[in-house]
Amino acid sequence: MTELHLWLRHEPRTTERRTPVVPADARRLVDSGVALTVEESPQRIFPTEEYEAAGCRRAPAGSWMAAPRDTVILGLKELPDEPDELVHRHIFFGHAYKQQPGATGLLRRFAAGGGALLDLEYLVDEAGRRLAAFGYWAGYLGAALAVLRHRDRLTAPLTPTTKDDLDAVLRQAPGDTEFTALVIGALGRSGRGASTAFRTAGVEVTRWDLAETRDLDRRALLGHDVMVNAVLATTLVPPFLREEDLHSPARRLRTLCDVTCDVGSPFNVLPVYDRTTDWAEPVRRLREEPPLDLIAIDNLPSLLPRESSTDFSAALLPQLLAFGPGGAWGRCLDRFHQTCRELGIEEGESRS
Ligand SMILES: NC(=O)c1ccc[n+]([C@@H]2O[C@H](COP(=O)([O-])OP(=O)(O)OC[C@H]3O[C@@H](n4cnc5c(N)ncnc54)[C@H](O)[C@@H]3O)[C@@H](O)[C@H]2O)c1
Repeated sequence: MTELHLWLRHEPRTTERRTPVVPADARRLVDSGVALTVEESPQRIFPTEEYEAAGCRRAPAGSWMAAPRDTVILGLKELPDEPDELVHRHIFFGHAYKQQPGATGLLRRFAAGGGALLDLEYLVDEAGRRLAAFGYWAGYLGAALAVLRHRDRLTAPLTPTTKDDLDAVLRQAPGDTEFTALVIGALGRSGRGASTAFRTAGVEVTRWDLAETRDLDRRALLGHDVMVNAVLATTLVPPFLREEDLHSPARRLRTLCDVTCDVGSPFNVLPVYDRTTDWAEPVRRLREEPPLDLIAIDNLPSLLPRESSTDFSAALLPQLLAFGPGGAWGRCLDRFHQTCRELGIEEGESRS
């Protein structure tokens, strides 16, 4: 079997401090015979030196473009806009299979170069369950930011922190135990994280999942002060909130945090806003009288980069050690080919 050469790339997004593989797990890969190149990255939470000490090779940021063709490029979020043709297999979150804006363009770049997207969101076991995900920390952060906003204690821009520091702020309860919070998608990873953060902040939480939204009670939804949406939508369902609901006199809802951030997708269950928020301006006022504030940040776990990377890396490590044509990676590749076919994108010489 040829040696696997993994290449951990620098993330172009300046706020992205996470990594899919932490130095301790890099050492496990190297010890198992994987060649691991790590690009220099000024913002990655773990210094490149720690990877070098673990036996990794060091390379300049962005040098993956010139890596040997058989190298598997590993990252988390979006690739830079260049090159037009992607010749490698790339492991990352492509956000390209739910008709998101830019999805077809990205897949065309792979098809043009003969490369392939091995999308981490679709790295699943035989039962279709995700094998590595950041959801828990996304939910935790989403609820934490919503609480801080609701208590008028959120300061911008947001900066990465640690769980201990975040929890200390959340526990400074200003005696507002009367406010109510709703988490939808409560049984999932993000939903569990959100519920835990609300409890840390001393806030009562109502937890809804599929059973509670089948026959959606929007009046009950609007009766909560704070709501966190943490669903993973894979089918079309009626929206949880529509424009007309925001005008309802029954609305107590003041703070809405959309962890799911499916804006632009047909599966979006919150079609009441048209663009996400970010670390610089985490909150957007959707309505004045009475106020409704939105938080919709699509890289929440990056705010706790050390904790979220460590958990993710622990889950991804066994999959990387088992990297090969079948199993979970085979399913990932099948999904890529299937989506290209569905979108009418003709693949050239992509690996089968
Ligand atoms: N904003 C961010 O930074 C960020 C980071 C990671 C994940 N996410 C997103 O968060 C979402 C949740 O991810 P996860 O890992 O928790 O997924 P998950 O699969 O662990 O959980 C999703 C939950 O949603 C529930 N659900 C699905 N449809 C529902 C509906 N119509 N009504 C009620 N519940 C419903 C499911 O039953 C499940 O319990 C995903 O869309 C994911 O892409 C966002």
